[in-house]
Amino acid sequence: MGVPFFDLTRQYAALEDEIRPVVDEVLQTQRCIGGPFVTQLEQALAETVGVAHAVGVSSGTDALLLSLMALNLKPGDEVVTSPFTFFAPVGSIMRLGARPVFVDIEPEGFNLDASHIEDALGAKTRAVLPIHLFGQCAPMDQVMAAVQNAPGVAVIEDLAQALGASFEGRQAGSFGLAGCVSFFPTKNLGAAGDGGMVFTDDAAFYERLRLLARHGASPKYHHVEVGGNFRLDALQAAILSAKLPHLHSFCERRRAHAAYYNEALADLEGLKLPRHAPGHRPVYNQYVVRVADRARLIAHLEARGIGSAVYYPEPLHTQPALRELGYQRGDFPRAELACEQVLALPIFPELRDDEREAVADAVREALG
Ligand SMILES: Cc1ncc(COP(=O)(O)O)c(C=O)c1O
Repeated sequence: MGVPFFDLTRQYAALEDEIRPVVDEVLQTQRCIGGPFVTQLEQALAETVGVAHAVGVSSGTDALLLSLMALNLKPGDEVVTSPFTFFAPVGSIMRLGARPVFVDIEPEGFNLDASHIEDALGAKTRAVLPIHLFGQCAPMDQVMAAVQNAPGVAVIEDLAQALGASFEGRQAGSFGLAGCVSFFPTKNLGAAGDGGMVFTDDAAFYERLRLLARHGASPKYHHVEVGGNFRLDALQAAILSAKLPHLHSFCERRRAHAAYYNEALADLEGLKLPRHAPGHRPVYNQYVVRVADRARLIAHLEARGIGSAVYYPEPLHTQPALRELGYQRGDFPRAELACEQVLALPIFPELRDDEREAVADAVREALG
């Protein structure tokens, strides 16, 4: 039996009757920009995350860019972050002329090693940007402790993959000055296109986000700063609103799949399963294992029609686009090793039980 790495058509088929009416409502009312769906989604998700404010934006990347703009990040400023993630956080830092300062990842996990943060802080540091990778919170107690005695250093969380994850009872996105989420279709809460949101508890920061998301205009047509158009589309907000009541069950289903894999693959030599320290409640936007002979496992899965994916094949510090930063191969050996060993197995909410069994059987066959 073949198993897709993910299949977005299943979620749409299951929720079509809830999604179509809200799409029709936007089209019939032609409230395509702003409007009640955007406002209601902001309020509902702020509540879900446990913060006072949220601003809907055009993508997860723009959530990061807007947050860094609202922080007034300037050329020469530094932001401490991880070299093992998607390019978006680093791209956003670089687009403002600032400099990402990398710290390596945890020895076993995939998030930044918070014990290295203090050493990376300097006079030019303006922010620490932890990424809650694969749906697991970064060690936020240590991250917050590391910046406690560093006035002027903000924490901006990237929870693109971690909406619904929590650490010590607090939701991802509620620890720092801002939390940035993505609604890319394969994320925990996925739109039918691009979208994102910034969460914050800080009223003044919220006002800056709103100002800059509307070309820095206050009042309309009077521009006090250079911002941009970062609006969340009303159609996407409507679709997300229809899906939001199901977010909890999406997350639970991902956790159930992960629990199944954890058990079914527990005793395989040569395979490291995702682990999390006490206090974490991950949401498994990806289920990522480590395996020394990855190419062989991929080939075996492929031969059985089972999808898998490599997040991420190359660390950020050796990317050609970041050459000017002067990093070299060898600088972050844990991140580099992860890039050689990681493999994500199918884990979307609508994955069937027989499909996950087929995945586990194929992995066992390949490595057993
Ligand atoms: C960790 C991380 N950060 C940021 C982003 C950017 O989100 P978007 O694709 O919505 O711009 C992604 C999306 O893939 C991501 O995985």
